[in-house]
Amino acid sequence: MKRSALLLTIAVALISVAFLVFREKPSSGYELKIFLTADVRGRLVPCGCFTGQFGGLTRVSTVLGEPDSKSLRLDAGDALEGPDDFHRMELAYIHRAFAQMGYAAANLGHREARLSAPELRQLAQSSGVPLLSANLLDSQTGAPVAKSHTIVKRGGWRIAIVGVLDEMIPAVELGTGLRVEKMSTAIGQLLPALKKDADFLVLLAFTNQEQLARLAREFPEFTAVLGGKVTQPSQEAGREGKTALLYVTNESKALGTLRLRLDSPGDAALLGGDVMLVHHQIAEDREIEKLAIAYREEIRTTTLALDDPTRTAADAVPGVRSAPAFAGSESCTTCHAAAADVWKKSSHSHAFQTLVSRKADADPNCIGCHTVGFQKPGGYRREFGISKLTDVGCESCHGPASRHVERVKAGDLEGGRLRKLGAADCVKCHHGEFSRPFEWEAFWPLIMH
Ligand code: HEC
Ligand code: HEC
Ligand code: HEC
Ligand code: HEC
Repeated sequence: MKRSALLLTIAVALISVAFLVFREKPSSGYELKIFLTADVRGRLVPCGCFTGQFGGLTRVSTVLGEPDSKSLRLDAGDALEGPDDFHRMELAYIHRAFAQMGYAAANLGHREARLSAPELRQLAQSSGVPLLSANLLDSQTGAPVAKSHTIVKRGGWRIAIVGVLDEMIPAVELGTGLRVEKMSTAIGQLLPALKKDADFLVLLAFTNQEQLARLAREFPEFTAVLGGKVTQPSQEAGREGKTALLYVTNESKALGTLRLRLDSPGDAALLGGDVMLVHHQIAEDREIEKLAIAYREEIRTTTLALDDPTRTAADAVPGVRSAPAFAGSESCTTCHAAAADVWKKSSHSHAFQTLVSRKADADPNCIGCHTVGFQKPGGYRREFGISKLTDVGCESCHGPASRHVERVKAGDLEGGRLRKLGAADCVKCHHGEFSRPFEWEAFWPLIMH
């Protein structure tokens, strides 16, 4: 009994070693699939403002499927939505999503470069995915704030992934303590060592089409150059010399795929590549959605910079008449019963409940269009909860009307007139991914009063 157990252990050990040895041997003709995202811009989940909406990492994750050791999943930069504290908190969850989705690296884009050097170092430390930038440097030490590159193994081949962002970033938009080195300089310095350590080189460059092609010409050592800072995703994989080119953008609505055959070190064939739209029929991955929910719960219990009332306090210049404040929809109903009836029947009157049911009612990414006057003097504040100025109220469209109420009550119809509205007043909320295409003729009759 003992003997057979021992034999079994030895057999298992031998098989494992053989397996490892076999696995480690680069396999010529290995087909590598690279998946590419860029410009995620905070889209962990689509906001859900209308059915038919595209995008969201929840859907990208469904397309990618379970993490595997065969594909290479990369992000070319601009995963961050904006520079505010809640955007930074959200970015940490996006990196958790990348890690959960088996990403091999995330490159820094211009949006990330607005963060300060210490913030980026902290993100690089806490992220479960290697954060790349060979040319975003600490202005004091000259050292990269993230990793210049990472090396992964696929099919036994060592693949080095280098990250850069283009140097055309205005100084005012660069985070404190940061400096950007020229992409070519940083890459040139890295290459000699990398060529020894890796069989294939892949470049993630947050830059435009022309620069992507230029880098491919300048450094033909790269098997693939991926971006970027573009206005339109590429239709299909391109080629510059022997280097494959692919780029995506569009707030997580585009997913690039590149198929390469790895033959011998530095020698790969481009089998094909395309960019697919992350359309609304793709199911959302519940595991990634859980991260969005966790973000929304964390944001609910965190005091944010925008919660500070002095940030939006009405400008009280002595001698100047103070700006009108928000009176609240309830204060309009007595005099405008007919308008109020129409409004109550429209979905505008329960737009905040929509957020509550999605647990998004404390998320500044959502509150703006589902409340009255968020971020304006006297407007909705997160501490109000559901107590006041919720929903798309009368003043979400008509503007702060406290003076109107005051003047009319004083018998002065002219003193507090509200201006005439038009389509432009609707489009400030009904635009882009937040609405079906807006047409006055189709939308106004549904809420006309
Ligand atoms: C720029 C303004 C804007 C922002 C920001 C916004 N919404 Fe909306 N939302 C709208 C508009 C406009 C509609 C109605 C769209 C339509 O009818 O086509 C809507 C509708 C919705 C609906 C659909 C309601 C229904 O029952 O049909 C949901 C759900 C929703 N929003 C959730 C969110 C969440 C969650 C966020 C934050 C991630 C968010 N919204 C951010 C403007 C916005
Ligand atoms: C402050 C942001 C905001 C403004 C301004 C705004 N809307 Fe909306 N609208 C929304 C939101 C949010 C919803 C979805 C509410 C929900 O279901 O939660 C919506 C929904 C709608 C709907 C679907 C209503 C229904 O009952 O089916 C129509 C129609 C509409 N809006 C028309 C307009 C028109 C016309 C204007 C301009 C006169 C306008 N909206 C201005 C935010 C806005
Ligand atoms: C005390 C009664 C009263 C209250 C309260 C009141 N209104 Fe009015 N409102 C009027 C009267 C009266 C007019 C019509 C003036 C005229 O005939 O020219 C008017 C006109 C308007 C108009 C048309 C444009 C204009 O200024 O003439 C809008 C829009 C309006 N009110 C919005 C509101 C909103 C929004 C609220 C709540 C914040 C509100 N009103 C509260 C009495 C009131
Ligand atoms: C979604 C945007 C929106 C909301 C919400 C809204 N209105 Fe209006 N309202 C309009 C538009 C657009 C007009 C027509 C253009 C104009 O008169 O400025 C209008 C017109 C009016 C008028 C003038 C009507 C006339 O015949 O002269 C009054 C009064 C008014 N609204 C009151 C209200 C009251 C009270 C509420 C809340 C119960 C409200 N509105 C909510 C967009 C809105």
